[in-house]
Amino acid sequence: MMRHFLRDDDLSPAEQAHVLDLAAKLKAAPFDARPLAGPQSVAMIFDKPTLRTQTSFAAGIAELGGNPMLVEGKLAGIGIRESVEDVARVLGRQVAVIVWRTFFQADLDQMAAHAGVPVVNALTDDFHPCQVIADLLTIREHKGDLSGLTVAFVGDGACNMGNSWLLGGTTAGMHVRISAPHGYVPGEEMFARAREIAVGTGGSAQAVPDPVEAVTGADVVVTDTWISMGKESEQAARVAVFAPYTLSTELMAVASPDAIALHCLPAYRGMEIAAEVLDGPQSVVWDEAENRRHAQKAVLAFLLEASHEGAS
Ligand code: CP
Repeated sequence: MMRHFLRDDDLSPAEQAHVLDLAAKLKAAPFDARPLAGPQSVAMIFDKPTLRTQTSFAAGIAELGGNPMLVEGKLAGIGIRESVEDVARVLGRQVAVIVWRTFFQADLDQMAAHAGVPVVNALTDDFHPCQVIADLLTIREHKGDLSGLTVAFVGDGACNMGNSWLLGGTTAGMHVRISAPHGYVPGEEMFARAREIAVGTGGSAQAVPDPVEAVTGADVVVTDTWISMGKESEQAARVAVFAPYTLSTELMAVASPDAIALHCLPAYRGMEIAAEVLDGPQSVVWDEAENRRHAQKAVLAFLLEASHEGAS
């Protein structure tokens, strides 16, 4: 069976743990796995802005022995010049994997259904699983075993990172608290899916509107921009509604004394996170950014191997 990474729960708990183990190995020995040797090409398509995702995939694909092929989304005109299905069929004849950052999860699902090669979600409006797998690697490095740790996600919960934390965090057996204002909480179906996963892993998923209550005693505190891509016209309203959710030094002080702070970047100091936290001793954001490469390499290696095993 062809394997894809379209959302966080595409990896079972055992598979997620395996990918994290592999990521740690590849971080220690970056050139030990060469599943793309040839080189085989990986198509990378970005319909939204990116720094970390495009560079970490390009570097990681090269380290795996492959050729990172940047496909210009606007030139290709996916869904405009030709259908997602036809683009998938063509790309699948050229490359070993397709990595796509786009708007609609349904388009990504269509790509996966027709490509005949693994497809990786490099961010959609609904999920950012490559970010959360890198976050989990970072947390493991700083806190050890993920199972039983409490993570508080503070800010705009109704975005791809809120959804991905619910699914990816509970897959790891973590207790996930989402602290967001009314109207910015992930959908009930996301909590339901997270709680279903948590039954098997010992984790939990909770909405905790009060940020102080959510962060109290947390091992890990996560935030993200209040103005996700596509929400720029709502900036003024969002700044007002999210102001009580700034990850300040005062808020960080109620977390566990050895808590760490994560932010997937780009960050806006003085908005969702205080400069003193982002640039302070509890911040692990630069490790987190580096770990995109190691985690994504492990995802690619896993998908290629699992898809090959399924085919044989
Ligand atoms: N965190 C993240 O996905 O960064 P980019 O948008 O720069 O790729």
